[in-house]
Amino acid sequence: MIPVVDIFAGPGGLNEGFSSVRDYSGNRVFNTVLSIEMETAAVKTLTLRAAHRILSGCANGQPEVYKKFLAKEITYQEMRVAPEVAEAFAHAEDEVRQFELSEESRPDSDRMIRHALQGQSDWVLIGGPPCQAYSLAGRSRRKHDETFKDDHKHFLYKEYLHIIEEFRPSIFVMENVKGMLSSKNGDGKIFELIEADLRAPGYDLHSMVVSSDTGALIPSAFIIKSEQFGIPQKRHRVIIVGLRRDAQLPAPKVLQPTAPVTVRDSISSLPRLRSGISRKPKATWDEWTAVRQQAHVCLRRLPRKELAEFPSGSHLQTVSVSRPSIESVDPTTAAGELQAWLQADAPPVTWNHEARGHMVEDLVRYYLLAALVTEDGVSPKVRSLPAAHWPKHGNINNVVVPFEDRFRVQVWNKPSSTVVSHIAKDGHYYIHPDPEQMRSLTVREAARLQTFPDNYIFLGNRTQQFTQVGNAVPPLLAAKIAERVAVILGAYA
Ligand SMILES: C[S@@+](CC[C@H](N)C(=O)[O-])C[C@H]1O[C@@H](n2cnc3c(N)ncnc32)[C@H](O)[C@@H]1O
Repeated sequence: MIPVVDIFAGPGGLNEGFSSVRDYSGNRVFNTVLSIEMETAAVKTLTLRAAHRILSGCANGQPEVYKKFLAKEITYQEMRVAPEVAEAFAHAEDEVRQFELSEESRPDSDRMIRHALQGQSDWVLIGGPPCQAYSLAGRSRRKHDETFKDDHKHFLYKEYLHIIEEFRPSIFVMENVKGMLSSKNGDGKIFELIEADLRAPGYDLHSMVVSSDTGALIPSAFIIKSEQFGIPQKRHRVIIVGLRRDAQLPAPKVLQPTAPVTVRDSISSLPRLRSGISRKPKATWDEWTAVRQQAHVCLRRLPRKELAEFPSGSHLQTVSVSRPSIESVDPTTAAGELQAWLQADAPPVTWNHEARGHMVEDLVRYYLLAALVTEDGVSPKVRSLPAAHWPKHGNINNVVVPFEDRFRVQVWNKPSSTVVSHIAKDGHYYIHPDPEQMRSLTVREAARLQTFPDNYIFLGNRTQQFTQVGNAVPPLLAAKIAERVAVILGAYA
């Protein structure tokens, strides 16, 4: 297997793609020997996933105690102390290191990498240095902040560069936000500096969407628009693939566009949930139905919609442990490929699928907005609702209403908007398309839009889980990139 080192690993989206690639005999092509990440919750998720891979590869199948954990019959702690899983977790803890990369800590990270590679010279470096400082949102928020250009996060890519110079992987795959293409510091554009720095140690840089045969690549050639490649989400990210010149490797084949896949393809098979009500954690079905009835009455007052009767509905829960419905899929279609990927070896219950609580006014807004999505799939603006339903704060009457766009239904028949790391705070922007459920998306729904398989379990509190999901490279996209990297290395034809 080809060793992989994953730095700034997040919850492991990029790594999941590499770990999933199999050769024609069904053997794994890549083996992650080290993941470095500093956040505690992400490290827990990564460790569980690393152990899951080992336990799922056992000759006799997963140990019973691990199956019970997947079925939520026992807790994580109960499973973790069982002797049957001890060896797998010992390996996983050796692979996943909680560590902060920095110039000062290089001697320690160098030691870890040397130990993990054990002298092997054909290996792959993956990961994306953190993006906050030069992400577009980060820049606009910090326009007047003098400390911005000195922010060390601009320069965390230097840690990536250091590892390339010191350990010379055959290939590296570096992911980042689009903002890095236009971000500037005192000396000029950051992207030009990064490109020159990455080439200097003897690497050629390639895009996964524009062939290098077409001549020198302009910066935007490195942007991958995920929705063009079988991902149910508009996520545009920079991916740079570097090949060590002296290894004389063939250039990667670019990714093949697929038919679009949608929110429906991604989340419709998940168990339906009702929302929680803020400050009423124990709200009963009747209390919740009363809010829905109120919303329905508001909807009926609107002139333009042919309306069905108020649905009696089934008794939806706020937390679901039942299993998603398994759809029979044709894996030769993009939607079938996505569903087969999401549902492969799914656990018997749905993980990370718990509805958040919202204020009653927001629940009504969610119901109305989701019910008023147009036939061609446009989410209505909050200002198109009667004024009684406009949010109370701020300047809704101004010509420019920045927060008007804060409410968005993720419509069924299109890819979703980008799942971002602050999704935990942005429920309004991720309204579930089914008005009946009157809620924002769960962690599992966000994870599905990011193409994490259902057996990928996120640990930490809910905010931390959302952050992990939003930070990741979609694993299915990563798998497509990893397949091409495998071809370059002659491991997969
Ligand atoms: C964009 S996320 C990476 C996502 C990952 N590539 C994936 O596909 O899941 C960046 C991660 O870098 C971590 N990080 C930030 N600064 C770090 C540092 N100095 N050392 C180690 N990890 C760091 C953050 O906690 C965050 O999880």
